[in-house]
Amino acid sequence: MQEIEKIKKRFEDEILTVMASEIKELEIKYLGRKGMIAVFFQEIKNVPEGKKRKFGQDVNELKAYIEEIIKARLEEIKSQENLKSLEKDKIDVTMTGLRLSNGAPNIITQTIREVEDIFVSMGFDVMTGPEIESDYYNFEALNIPEYHPARDMQDTFYLAQKMLLRTQTSPIQIRTMETYKPPIRMIATGRCFRRDAADSSHFPIFHQIEGLVVDKKVSFANLKGTLSEFAKRMFGKNSRIRFSPSYFPFVEPGAETAISCVMCGGKGCPVCKYSGWLEMGGSGMVHPNVLRNVSIEPEEYQGFAFGWGIERIAMVKYEIPDIRMFYQNDLRFLRQFK
Ligand code: DAH
Repeated sequence: MQEIEKIKKRFEDEILTVMASEIKELEIKYLGRKGMIAVFFQEIKNVPEGKKRKFGQDVNELKAYIEEIIKARLEEIKSQENLKSLEKDKIDVTMTGLRLSNGAPNIITQTIREVEDIFVSMGFDVMTGPEIESDYYNFEALNIPEYHPARDMQDTFYLAQKMLLRTQTSPIQIRTMETYKPPIRMIATGRCFRRDAADSSHFPIFHQIEGLVVDKKVSFANLKGTLSEFAKRMFGKNSRIRFSPSYFPFVEPGAETAISCVMCGGKGCPVCKYSGWLEMGGSGMVHPNVLRNVSIEPEEYQGFAFGWGIERIAMVKYEIPDIRMFYQNDLRFLRQFK
């Protein structure tokens, strides 16, 4: 009986000091097949007859006691481990995130999108054409034969087999009229190339927006109305358009188009060089020869067309003083249009 008490005490001491990893060993030591409790059971036969019953009861009680405590201890360890792993995997949802600095479309792309939005809202389709163009589409079909002096102003980068880097977006007019029947209402934006020396208003790479409308009873008044509306939406409702006679081989009559100065409204200032007007590009009524080149009957159909510079539009709208800035990739410039 004393032995039972002693083992109980010993167990109570051990369970307090034992490490979590050693609990199983302790369990075997006391409750295993050759453990201390088992030894007691073997001893029963040596206990005097009158005390056997009590001895048996005490051993059973001790066994139940040890089982219960070990079970409780194991559960406690398990829940501590759970807590620890919860702690480790905790996510602080209130923590401020990392700020990623994202890019933005280039100002030329932004301007192209703005221009396209305006014309699309007026019912124009958006077309594209190749930057590497044939002599035929870039010049010949636009009523600029090989000997024509108008080619001098549009010297470009010539490739093999009469291919060249397009000098204007006008060849997309031809491609569109070859593919679609009138009525046609289209614009096209894109990159153009010329063998120009760079200065504040010239660069060997630049972008244009081309417009073309072909239908029955199309008049110069429609051209004027369309560009006036565009100017108002792009540059402000007080913007006005001026047409002045000019020459482009693929239109007749042809006109230079200008908008009223965005700085002074037309009164005259350094930006418009005191003229009150800012030149934007060319326009006119599609030349009958051009219509014939794409098998459209000039007696039946007329068209108007225009071609403006995208950089020019952006320079006027955002007060950019030098076209070279678009191509220097200076982040201090680019970030202003984020
Ligand atoms: N393509 C001409 C240029 O780059 C601009 C132009 C003038 C386009 C008159 C047109 C037009 O469509 O009708 O100088």
